[in-house]
Amino acid sequence: MKRGAKKILFVASEAYPLVKTGGLGDVIGSLPHALHAGGADIRLVLPGYRSLLRQLDQVKILGWCDVRGAEGIVSARVLETHHPDLAFPLWVVDCPTLFDRPGNPYVSANGHDWPDNAERFAVFSRVAALLAQDVLDIGWQPEVVHTHDWQTGLVAAFLADQPVRPKTVFTIHNLAYSGYFSHGDFVRLQLPSHWWSSEGVEFHGGFSMLKGGVVYADAVTTVSPTYAAEICTPAFGYGLDGLLLSRQHKLHGILNGIDTVVWNPATDEYLPAHFSPGRIQPGKRRNKQALLERFLPQPDEAALKAPLLGMVGRLVEQKGIDWVLAAMPVLLAETDARFVLLGSGQIAYEQKLTRLARQHPDRVFVEIGYDEPLAHLIEAGADMFMMPSRFEPCGLNQMYSLHYGTLPIVFKTGGLADTVVDANKATLKDATANGFVFDTPDVAAFLDAIRRALDVYRKPAQWRGLQQTGMRQSFGWSESADHYLSLYSSSSSRSGHALEPA
Ligand code: ADP
Ligand code: GLC
Repeated sequence: MKRGAKKILFVASEAYPLVKTGGLGDVIGSLPHALHAGGADIRLVLPGYRSLLRQLDQVKILGWCDVRGAEGIVSARVLETHHPDLAFPLWVVDCPTLFDRPGNPYVSANGHDWPDNAERFAVFSRVAALLAQDVLDIGWQPEVVHTHDWQTGLVAAFLADQPVRPKTVFTIHNLAYSGYFSHGDFVRLQLPSHWWSSEGVEFHGGFSMLKGGVVYADAVTTVSPTYAAEICTPAFGYGLDGLLLSRQHKLHGILNGIDTVVWNPATDEYLPAHFSPGRIQPGKRRNKQALLERFLPQPDEAALKAPLLGMVGRLVEQKGIDWVLAAMPVLLAETDARFVLLGSGQIAYEQKLTRLARQHPDRVFVEIGYDEPLAHLIEAGADMFMMPSRFEPCGLNQMYSLHYGTLPIVFKTGGLADTVVDANKATLKDATANGFVFDTPDVAAFLDAIRRALDVYRKPAQWRGLQQTGMRQSFGWSESADHYLSLYSSSSSRSGHALEPA
């Protein structure tokens, strides 16, 4: 590490490959590396979930932090480890009563939020804020603390109360998840009473941890320029649009990148065959065959030739899965398209998908669950990728699709609008088209976009042109990492005074 490198403390609730439930995990698994490559000195802090502790080999105890929990003082051990997948030290907040339990970071086996989530992430944030002030005398004092989503929203709030502190940056990955808890939780956790205000964390009679990040962080970012504008409007703001509008001076939209080592069709370790923009076939076709073979004993020539539309994601309304469910029967009747879907989420959607797959065993292939290798195979083996999200802060899957020559079909929103260029006369002519975009939020418009995609699919030369445009685009992190680095530097760490009243 260069002397004088900027010290950045990254605080998050997931990071690939240690723990991942969605795109946040991907981003925290790759952005810090890009910053490290750009010369920053990074520490990453994660909660000590059981599944994460299991993956740690050698740990050093940095110290103990005693902080307030819901029923008195909670003692958290802070561990340091050098994980082979990380280019910098990982700090783990090991607090067994809150994190050492089986399963998902946020929800229990029955799919409901852990009942003590308010305490879990308030304690995690308190410890992170102490680490940001080097209370354990580790000798590493960050200049910037970069926190992510509601789980870490209170870090900036705790730090804002300190006379001397690092600069705080808060990134919104999804405004729909706000970490909303009751007034009772606020009292039990003995959060500072001056936060209880509409200018603080109070929100509709309860409190929002995400709002803490928006109000108290020195800079707020979100993961695409279009989403940064959208969240300042009532349609996308989840009641925080007014606040965000008033904080526009400190709000920045910085597009996510993708990890081009993990997601690279030329080297992807999950794929049976590799391919590149200059030589898409036969590699891509072999992946399609392997994907079909996973669901069919012997895929015939017709299945291999027919367009295969894929989807991977959380089965929730955000992702437009209801539009997909409405569109599929129409397309099954009027085209020869096949569908492959991987996801988990709301039970009703899981059941509807499973039922459709049972009704059309030769044409609808569904896997309910979480399966990283299959996600890669779908990106590589499908011809088109459906991502009709009603809103999408950034979206990574459409970028993986573009990179894998799998043309995305998306609604014009958030990061989808910023990365996918609709194939129309003008964009086909100037060779900027890389997918299909619809801009009316309904099934008819989605179907229309799919039909347009199916038309182009029948023109192989044109199709290949679109694939190559997407595959040749650069979705790496370096440009976005530069934006973050200049944001970190744009104002020096505040000391001596808290933020102006929010
Ligand atoms: P979001 O974070 O809103 O879920 P993104 O597109 O940003 O959406 O990122 C989703 C990430 O999670 C991608 O890496 C995607 O491949 C992965 N993913 C989502 N659902 C599954 C699943 N069921 N199995 C494997 N990977 C999944
Ligand atoms: C969130 C968003 C998604 C984004 C991801 C990473 O989960 O829903 O759009 O890509 O975070 O920033």
